[in-house]
Amino acid sequence: MTRADPTATPDQARLELAPEAMRAFGHAVVDAIVDRLADQASLKVTTRKTRAELDALLWQDPPAGPTDPNAVLARVVEHVLGNCMIPSHPRFFAFVPGPSSFVGAMADALVAGFNPFAGTWFESSGAAEVELLTIDWLRRAFGLPEGAGGLFVSGGSVANLTALAAARHMKLADRVAGAVGYGSALVHGSLDKAFHILGFGREQFRRLPVGDDGRLVPGTVAEAVAADRARGLRPFLIIANAGTTNTGAVDPLPALADLAAAGGLWLHVDGAYGAAVALTARGAAALDGLGRADSVVVDPHKWLFQPYEIGAVLVRQRDWLKRTFQSEADYMQDTEPLNREINFCDHGIQLTRGFRALKLWMTVQVHGMDAIRAAIEHGLGLAEHAEQLLRADRRFEVMTPASLGVVTFRYVGQGKGAGNLDALNRAIVGAMIEDGFALATSTQVRGATVLRFCTVNPRTSEGDMAAVIEHIAMLGARIADKS
Ligand SMILES: Cc1ncc(COP(=O)(O)O)c(C=O)c1O
Repeated sequence: MTRADPTATPDQARLELAPEAMRAFGHAVVDAIVDRLADQASLKVTTRKTRAELDALLWQDPPAGPTDPNAVLARVVEHVLGNCMIPSHPRFFAFVPGPSSFVGAMADALVAGFNPFAGTWFESSGAAEVELLTIDWLRRAFGLPEGAGGLFVSGGSVANLTALAAARHMKLADRVAGAVGYGSALVHGSLDKAFHILGFGREQFRRLPVGDDGRLVPGTVAEAVAADRARGLRPFLIIANAGTTNTGAVDPLPALADLAAAGGLWLHVDGAYGAAVALTARGAAALDGLGRADSVVVDPHKWLFQPYEIGAVLVRQRDWLKRTFQSEADYMQDTEPLNREINFCDHGIQLTRGFRALKLWMTVQVHGMDAIRAAIEHGLGLAEHAEQLLRADRRFEVMTPASLGVVTFRYVGQGKGAGNLDALNRAIVGAMIEDGFALATSTQVRGATVLRFCTVNPRTSEGDMAAVIEHIAMLGARIADKS
């Protein structure tokens, strides 16, 4: 690691380092990132200390005087970041991994360094142009019409909240009494939060049962809507999954779009982790109907390989966001944009906002769309490969087939009758956390505890996949033997 000149004293009054010290420190930070990325496959996936252990390492009063930045960096790398799991690790399959990318990380560094204010055209026209363009790339991939638009936010949760705020405004003129929304039982919890934040009661969001394939059944939605109408309620929203987090199930988008159109309901598609596949030909086919949505959410910090945080929300007519969010303040009077120029602060929750679009834009510039598409395809193929390996192996049972990069399964060992499979599979997760070779987490499918692979990392090879499956079988056998 290059070291900053320790003799260069920081300019404390200006909170600055001397230029050469800044350069050396910046290089040291980049070295730390590159070292991590180059070594991550050989590191443990999981690292977790107790609160007491971390208190002993880090808890202190804020230091009154300066410390050598290299010493601070060394502590951060070892004790802070070194005690976080590695969601970009090729053998991290838990939840939705964050594969990220170096170019995206460097874009974030640039943005942090230049610190543009991406709220208004007035202050950051270049940033706004790149955000408009990058959102438009997503718009076209999703098959949304011209005139659709959106913005980048912190992630899927805030993107879902933003979309539902627009739905509430456009469909209900913000009057929530008696309004009802519908979605599958497997809708992401961030949508419950969004309902709550927007002033709806828990009972105003109907979580409807899904079929064995984890997909919403259009007839069930139609019946629920009709029953609520008959009771004098006001159905206004259908939420569809473009990839449930649980099993990757895609709700029947064309049928739900028909229902929404017929009933004058807003169709929101939560594709936080899954909608990225629309950039590929077969992904677009799997998400047929996506372009009929009124709002769509996708998280570039998942399957578009960006560092946290970046989520995107798009709506069918860009001005829906403006009508929902625009507010006025005298001190902003100089920032009124011209025709095609927009103030992103009028299209969402934040006034002061960072320039999140840059990382996606730079990654696409540097690697090209073909490479991004191939990386997404790789993730789709890996889940299918895992499914094949698991089906060919009598120690495992596949619970749901590969769908949008997710496959669920359970270890059954010598046979399905053997012991308590739920407890055994939970114990396997515990053993994975303990030894750190790989991480898959558990979930519930049709009442059973199952393991789940989410395979969106382009650095994961088929060899990694085979090794992890063998490792899980070894852990399963060991635990079964002991019990
Ligand atoms: C389907 C779905 N929706 C929403 C979210 C929430 O996104 P975020 O964690 O970026 O806020 C997730 C996160 O995994 C998700 O999978």
